[in-house]
Amino acid sequence: MALSSAPGKVYLFGEHAVVYGEPAVPCAIEQRARVGVERRDDEKIRVNAEDLSLDGFTVEYGGRTEDEPDIDVSESLLAAATGYVDEAIAQVRAVTGEEDVGFDVTIESDIPLGAGLGSSAAVAVAAIDAGTRELGTTLEVEEIADRAFRTEYEVQDGQASRADTFCSATGGAVRVEGDDCRTIDAPDLPIVIGFDGGAGDTGQLVSDVRDLREEYEFAANTVESIGNIVRNGEQALADGDVEELGRLMNFNHGLLSALGVSSRSLDAMVWAARDADAYGAKLTGSGGGGCIVALDPSEATETALKFTPGCEDAFRAELADEGVCRLE
Ligand code: MEV
Repeated sequence: MALSSAPGKVYLFGEHAVVYGEPAVPCAIEQRARVGVERRDDEKIRVNAEDLSLDGFTVEYGGRTEDEPDIDVSESLLAAATGYVDEAIAQVRAVTGEEDVGFDVTIESDIPLGAGLGSSAAVAVAAIDAGTRELGTTLEVEEIADRAFRTEYEVQDGQASRADTFCSATGGAVRVEGDDCRTIDAPDLPIVIGFDGGAGDTGQLVSDVRDLREEYEFAANTVESIGNIVRNGEQALADGDVEELGRLMNFNHGLLSALGVSSRSLDAMVWAARDADAYGAKLTGSGGGGCIVALDPSEATETALKFTPGCEDAFRAELADEGVCRLE
């Protein structure tokens, strides 16, 4: 068996706008997905996934070739998890040329699914690395990032940027603009995450923003303005100016909210962080539900979030310097 891990991420700036060629800055965090892949002697795929939410659950299903699974999880989460794994395995088969190979895949993750922390990218990156190594092929990090991007692109009907998957593959803070992806320097950031226990449908949310952008010029301008916030944010990161980063994150959240991708619970958590004097706070990822990211070196935001109606969990996250990691 080959076992790999890959980190989740938070977006400091730029989600959604990055889909239209604006820059974005996601940062990898030390919450990881671990994927074990073992070759089978038939063509089937069997996936055992555990802890894909912070509460944890177990799901076993037989991939696309076996009978109805014993499901202990919502259908939509199951569909999301299995879709990404199936497509990641398709990438493994394509890159190794072993089109008929079957696998037992085991997933363990600290990252809640669909909550804006890059669970699907982390699972895709770790599955592609472990799957190819199981077949004796070791890919460069850039190739893993590219194959994982193709995985998200297929599952999300052609609506995905390279940001999540590149960040998960390389680790650290990254800057993505179109096909131009690179790691950048970042200071130690006092990251606090609030989680409402929910999830957003990335494909649907990206589609909604696309429609809005096509219908209204001011929505297209909003997307461009997010790009300008990101450019300012890059300078603040380079200067190590955490207060300015926070102000820009607040601004970015306002524009994401204008694009309709926030929610009552995400807004409540953002306001709780602001009231607790965090430097700034915003939703992270596609929105609709899931997580916010705040910057606060004190305990105040974490404590305030724990008492915020709609917030299920609050925790601190460390920047992950290491991306995909080979464990076995
Ligand atoms: C989702 O984590 C981030 C989005 O920008 C979509 C993407 O970049 O693929 C909403």
